[in-house]
Amino acid sequence: MSNANQIPIRTSKRTQRVAASATQAVEGKVAEMRAAGIPVISFGAGEPDFPTPSAIKDQGHDAINTNLTKYTPAGGTMPLRKAIVAKLKTQTEYDYKWQNVIVTNGGKEAIFLAIMALCDSGDEVIVPAPYWVSYPEMVKLADATPVIIPTGIETEFKLTREMLDQHTTANTRMILLCSPSNPTGSVYTRAELEMIADWMRGNQAILLTDELYDNIVYDGVYARWLEVAPDLIDRTIVVNGLSKSVAMTGWRIGFAATSRDEYAKAMGKVQSHSTSHPSSVSQHAALKAYTANLDDEIAKMVAAFKERRAWIVNALNEIPGIKCANPPGAFYVFPDLRGLFGKPLKNGRVLNTSEEVALYLLAEAKVGLTHGEAFGAPGYARLSYALAMSSIQEGIARIKAALELA
Ligand SMILES: Cc1ncc(COP(=O)(O)O)c(C=O)c1O
Repeated sequence: MSNANQIPIRTSKRTQRVAASATQAVEGKVAEMRAAGIPVISFGAGEPDFPTPSAIKDQGHDAINTNLTKYTPAGGTMPLRKAIVAKLKTQTEYDYKWQNVIVTNGGKEAIFLAIMALCDSGDEVIVPAPYWVSYPEMVKLADATPVIIPTGIETEFKLTREMLDQHTTANTRMILLCSPSNPTGSVYTRAELEMIADWMRGNQAILLTDELYDNIVYDGVYARWLEVAPDLIDRTIVVNGLSKSVAMTGWRIGFAATSRDEYAKAMGKVQSHSTSHPSSVSQHAALKAYTANLDDEIAKMVAAFKERRAWIVNALNEIPGIKCANPPGAFYVFPDLRGLFGKPLKNGRVLNTSEEVALYLLAEAKVGLTHGEAFGAPGYARLSYALAMSSIQEGIARIKAALELA
């Protein structure tokens, strides 16, 4: 046999710089164990456990039945983009041009397009840690440099002005703001956003506001970036979508919105040469999500999350060695595990990192959670409480038993 088939194996430097998604890796392991018949309880997945509301599902069927199954314009259909403009108007009072709203394959593509379209090699992008796993990797894929600012439980995982000033340089090009936050559930208050706006007024950065969890808030502290800093609209990219807020993760609908034609055109170019647009069926269903009144469905979801949050925060704090804040948004808790490190457990095991804790719990307790290292926050872990209360209770009981100190 000729060896013409064998060439040196090489992947691009770009992909070599990037790590695979750790949250998807955890879910992959959980899926393998479940396939092998092992009853794992997973706090790993970042998706609501509720079904997509029926009105939206019906609209998806309608799209198929009426043959809305062809290409749509890149950037999304005009009715959907106009519906998103109307929604944004209620949130920000700003009238976006519909052409400047790019409908994307989930919020993820919106963030990717914005970074690819606006950042170059040499540009620094501020990524507060704990961060959503894809942020730094997307920045690296764009050949720009992530500047990670670590925060901890002491500041409720939020930036302070001192932290921002310490990390600002002449190359600061963008800041990624995620409130409510994945992975911590933290929410920036109006005063804290005013602090960030004040910092922005002294530099030339663009702010990307990732608002995917904007309607999953519990304690009334949520403030929207553009309500606080309307004067910075030309330096703001709004990213949002339906995955978390309306339980539509698999439909893959998000968007990026900008007041600047130049930015919209640049993002549109990247999309038109990569994904073209999200599925026509999903776009038609999304039109319903953006125009129907879903207040009741959303309120029910949020009420269930709120009840589970109260239970899980309390239960985690009862485990010696674990300290857990009460996050005002999203459906995650982000406990501090450092109190467990270096201390023998009842079974003699000694754990020294949150990655070790996560691997140990998966093997011993058949419980999945994501170690903080994946989010740039060693010492912590992320647990999603978007699962049935009975599973949460069983999962935490298993964790408690497995982590009993000697
Ligand atoms: C903070 C944050 N931004 C963006 C995304 C991407 O969402 P989507 O599933 O719509 O692509 C996620 C999903 O986990 C997220 O948590």
